[in-house]
Amino acid sequence: MKNFRVSRREFLQTSAGAAGASLAANTVLLSPEPMLASDSPSNRVRFGIVGVGMEGTGLLSTAIKLPGVECAAACDLYDGRHELAKEIAGQSVPTTRRYQDLLDNKNIDAIVVAVPDHWHKQIVVDALSAGKDVYCEKPMSHNAADGVAMVEAAKKSGRIVQIGAQRTSSVLCAKAKELYDSGAIGDLSLVEMTLGRNDPTGAWEYPPPADLSPQNLDWNTWLGTAPKKPFDPYTFARWRCWKEYGTGVAGDLMVHLISGMKFVLGINEPPKSASALGGIYRWKDGRNMPDVHTVLFEFGNVPMFVRLTLGTETPEVTRFMGSKGIIELSEFGLSHTPQAGIDLAPSYYCFGLPARLREPYFKQWHEEHDPKPGEEPASESVSFKGNDYDDLRPHMWKFFEAVRSRKPVVQDAVFGHHAALACHMANESYFRGGPVHWDAASQKILS
Ligand SMILES: NC(=O)c1ccc[n+]([C@@H]2O[C@H](COP(=O)([O-])OP(=O)(O)OC[C@H]3O[C@@H](n4cnc5c(N)ncnc54)[C@H](O)[C@@H]3O)[C@@H](O)[C@H]2O)c1
Repeated sequence: MKNFRVSRREFLQTSAGAAGASLAANTVLLSPEPMLASDSPSNRVRFGIVGVGMEGTGLLSTAIKLPGVECAAACDLYDGRHELAKEIAGQSVPTTRRYQDLLDNKNIDAIVVAVPDHWHKQIVVDALSAGKDVYCEKPMSHNAADGVAMVEAAKKSGRIVQIGAQRTSSVLCAKAKELYDSGAIGDLSLVEMTLGRNDPTGAWEYPPPADLSPQNLDWNTWLGTAPKKPFDPYTFARWRCWKEYGTGVAGDLMVHLISGMKFVLGINEPPKSASALGGIYRWKDGRNMPDVHTVLFEFGNVPMFVRLTLGTETPEVTRFMGSKGIIELSEFGLSHTPQAGIDLAPSYYCFGLPARLREPYFKQWHEEHDPKPGEEPASESVSFKGNDYDDLRPHMWKFFEAVRSRKPVVQDAVFGHHAALACHMANESYFRGGPVHWDAASQKILS
């Protein structure tokens, strides 16, 4: 079957004709987790998908290839995407503009939600109250209040909810977590997360579908709770640019970095505070969300610095820094670089002393510290390569396995809420022009 999802990095590599990275000598290859399920009819999970756009396409084509998983129906407000859903999942798959039809269908166990952020809450809350398990795309919520309502609905329903920041199910994040938990970098003191793009598609200037019209799109419903405005194909395709529908670079991109970081460090709480700076420097196309966004968080008792830009291409990296070294995590690999954290030579401060003090110091230092010949420490960086951490398969697999087993998932509604809150706090700090914190008592972001 045709691969309907190409990761952004894969796309850029293919279009640039770049060759795959070669493996360095001290590189360990990580094996993917096996995906095994008995395919008996009683074990099959039948899902319906709401939103078959850019991401829904990847989710649908990935899910139907998983063992014991079947698409029962697809919903979208744009009829062109009914055509697409049938191309992916087969002509017999029923399609509709009304997601309520999927919720009424007793043969559907789970709903996959891949609509713009401003629609997440309503569809998730309705799906949970209809007794469905839910896989909802990241960021879980469009604002803090939506997230609070979604957590409540998830708790009340007792259904499985998994949020779609897929890297938390990757072998790379699992390895980073194992290293961190084993004390490989000692005491954590700083985390740095960076990402940069520099092209119109990376900045969400997507071309609207050529045939889009109020006849084949239910525009009014698409707007949902956002202010009413006349039909606009650019808003439909480029909704990420405006806060009325999306959550900016924070909710679109940083949420992945935050979710991966939270998983590796075992943090499940919102940041204590966020202070952001940014602006619209490059893409002056009428958007109201910043294209450069820097954020300083206090998260889990350490400072975390995030630098996001749509104006300059830079690698996507998370650096966990501690007293014994660095773990550096990126899309296709991670490295662990140990650091001794002690003086490996006499202190250069003592070059500034007269010979009568300097020479005995140097002599004594060497006597006490020099390793025996042949026992010199050889500390070197180790790299691990594994499947792309943006691959949807392991994450969707974990969801469908949880639907079968009823066992909880890592990235549940509470985890998703906390990750999304970091994004909302980053945005609120940017728009309010000052630091913000999360007030657990009022469940609000306060200045
Ligand atoms: N996990 C990831 O790596 C990843 C990547 C991209 C997007 N996403 C997330 O996926 C979600 C969708 O993003 P996208 O890029 O696919 O958007 P998109 O605009 O390409 O597709 C969204 C689709 O949802 C449909 N829709 C909107 N409201 C609807 C409603 N009420 N009922 C039924 N259909 C409705 C639209 O018609 C559209 O076809 C967003 O939350 C985004 O943040 C996640």
